[in-house]
Amino acid sequence: MSRKKAQKILFYGLNSFVLFVLFCGYVKADDGSRLWLRYDQLPSQRVAVQGQSATFDVIRRELVVAGIVVKNSDDASVVIGLPQTSTLIRKLGWEPELQKLGPEGFRIRTIRNVIVIASTTDIGTLYGTFHFLRLLQTDQPIDRLQIDQRPALKLRLLNHWDNIDGSIERGYAGKSLWIGADDKQRLVDYARANASIGINGSVLNNVNADSEFLTAKYLDRFAAIADVFRPYGIRVYLSPRFSAPIELGKLPTADPLDTSVIEWWKQKADEIYRLIPDFGGFLVKANSEGQPGPGTYNRTHADGANMLAAALAPHHGIVMWRAFVYDMKPGYDRAGAAYENLQPFDGKFAPNVLLQVKNGPIDFQPREPFHPLFGAMPRTQMMPEFQITQEYLGFDNHFVFLASMWREFLDSDTYARGRGSTVSRVVDGSHFRQRLTGIAGVANTGSDTNWTGYDLLQANWYAFGRLAWNPQLSSEQIAIEWIRMTLTHDGRAITTIMRMMLESHDAVVNYMTPLGLHHLFWGGHHYGPAPWWDKEKRDDWNPVYYHKADAFGIGFDRTKTGSDTVNQYRREVARQFSNVETCPEEFLLWFHHVSWDHKMRSGRTLWDEMALRYQRGVDWVRTTRVKWAILAGSVDPERHAAISKKLAIQERDAIWWRDACLSYFQTFSKQPLPRGVEPPAKTLSEYKEKALEW
Ligand code: GCU
Repeated sequence: MSRKKAQKILFYGLNSFVLFVLFCGYVKADDGSRLWLRYDQLPSQRVAVQGQSATFDVIRRELVVAGIVVKNSDDASVVIGLPQTSTLIRKLGWEPELQKLGPEGFRIRTIRNVIVIASTTDIGTLYGTFHFLRLLQTDQPIDRLQIDQRPALKLRLLNHWDNIDGSIERGYAGKSLWIGADDKQRLVDYARANASIGINGSVLNNVNADSEFLTAKYLDRFAAIADVFRPYGIRVYLSPRFSAPIELGKLPTADPLDTSVIEWWKQKADEIYRLIPDFGGFLVKANSEGQPGPGTYNRTHADGANMLAAALAPHHGIVMWRAFVYDMKPGYDRAGAAYENLQPFDGKFAPNVLLQVKNGPIDFQPREPFHPLFGAMPRTQMMPEFQITQEYLGFDNHFVFLASMWREFLDSDTYARGRGSTVSRVVDGSHFRQRLTGIAGVANTGSDTNWTGYDLLQANWYAFGRLAWNPQLSSEQIAIEWIRMTLTHDGRAITTIMRMMLESHDAVVNYMTPLGLHHLFWGGHHYGPAPWWDKEKRDDWNPVYYHKADAFGIGFDRTKTGSDTVNQYRREVARQFSNVETCPEEFLLWFHHVSWDHKMRSGRTLWDEMALRYQRGVDWVRTTRVKWAILAGSVDPERHAAISKKLAIQERDAIWWRDACLSYFQTFSKQPLPRGVEPPAKTLSEYKEKALEW
């Protein structure tokens, strides 16, 4: 071969190699399994991890995964440790400040050429390390770091509704990660992901609980899981079935005041703590949707919660008692039930009990006003419950970035201590100084490779953790972090995707339940629309109960002329919601029954406005599909294609929602669709005949 030819081959060979490397680095196929812990292209660092423990090993391993050189020597550019384990950190004299940051807090400072990550605990340094990695992943400057952080809430928990057969109630991403599954690496990755966003507890089983979970067979399994999670700062919790003393203990009763029942729970708690010394505690759904509870024995919620709390107290365990209770009586408004059932017990719960309250008064609807219990029980420790899994938001098919919805909730003003008493300030203890604070999210995870069934919905798991750590974070910040860490570093793509994320919640509300409508879902599975639905055995499981459409108008009157549950809010809030003129239009039909001709702020009639909102929702999905298509090349092809497919389903569904709802409501309004709203694709009877498939 001539020299020239050899050079040519080498030249082309090298060029294609360079191209190949560039291509791999830029749009490498990705199955989504790494979540936001993708560490491609981090700037090089030499890190000294100064400490010995299982958690310090976790830190070292994470840094190695991130492609970072871990050293022991002193020429490191980053030093991680505690004052007790690092001479450098001890010499800095930070101990008093680190103490103030608490056991999970950390400090990161650039001191001359070295970045120091310090805490008083191993877990604090783990959180600090993940924070530092996030700075690198999100292209932040690190030459002048001055960071002190501590979580705003103590309990930052995922609730898993995992069943004994390994299925997940309202789960859309496969099967349980731990029941009937035995993939240790998956558990480790779950723990890494949670620790990286500060989640420090997992309730392992469904609130619709099976007593079997409290038997030795399952407790052994849960103990093994706890061993995996421990180095990541994650405690395990369980949902016990209130009637377990009958089913497992063969007692004749589960009455919380019965001494044999009290003793049974005490023994059970002792048994659990022998196996899991740092067990977190119980999450209880009682006297709700058929679950047993203290009410079965004419005892109160406080009796039930405090009995369990007493069994756990010697071990420092806690009880999270759910406020999701509602029952049926004539003339009853489900939105007022939890308040009626629980508010009278303010101040009656034991110090290791928290009341876990859903963000809204009904049930994880696409948009609800904040639950009136927030701010209404100053002597009760209260924690919000979010639903990360999208039971009422298109399962794993519709993209909706829930940070915006949660922000709206956290920023709602309860007026509990006058103006500015936002839910977040009530919940973080600023107003009522609760000792225990917390927040829970019903997880959207499962055995699917990409964890959440839809790559974009990983953002909601991420957002939940970030808001649990800091309930003041903006949706923009969370979105940008997540996009950079998970999807792309391309500036134009980041802007487009961020906009898409921030607009998504309003859009989905528009095509599902605009203007305060709620619970228009097909019975049971809650996927598509069925506003005509009236066959459930309980009235309050039927959409017709919620929208009350008639020839005059539509909406649930919760003011004085109706159920008056608007008065469960503080005076200032109640006044605003009660008045049609001042009620935010997002909640108009939540609080009012309004005529079809009601003049909206836009100048349009209610009917026209509603129809246009449905149309706007559809238009958003269409535009989003186009915008997403343009991003091919900025996101790896595998996830780009998968997301495109999901967006196509979302468009199909949005159209179906619009058409089914408008065709049905039109039978009452008797008005034509306004200009700009497309006519329905099918007849009303076709929509009624067959549910939207997912
Ligand atoms: C909803 C959901 C149930 C769940 C319940 C709860 O009603 O449909 O599946 O059990 O909430 O939060 O307890």
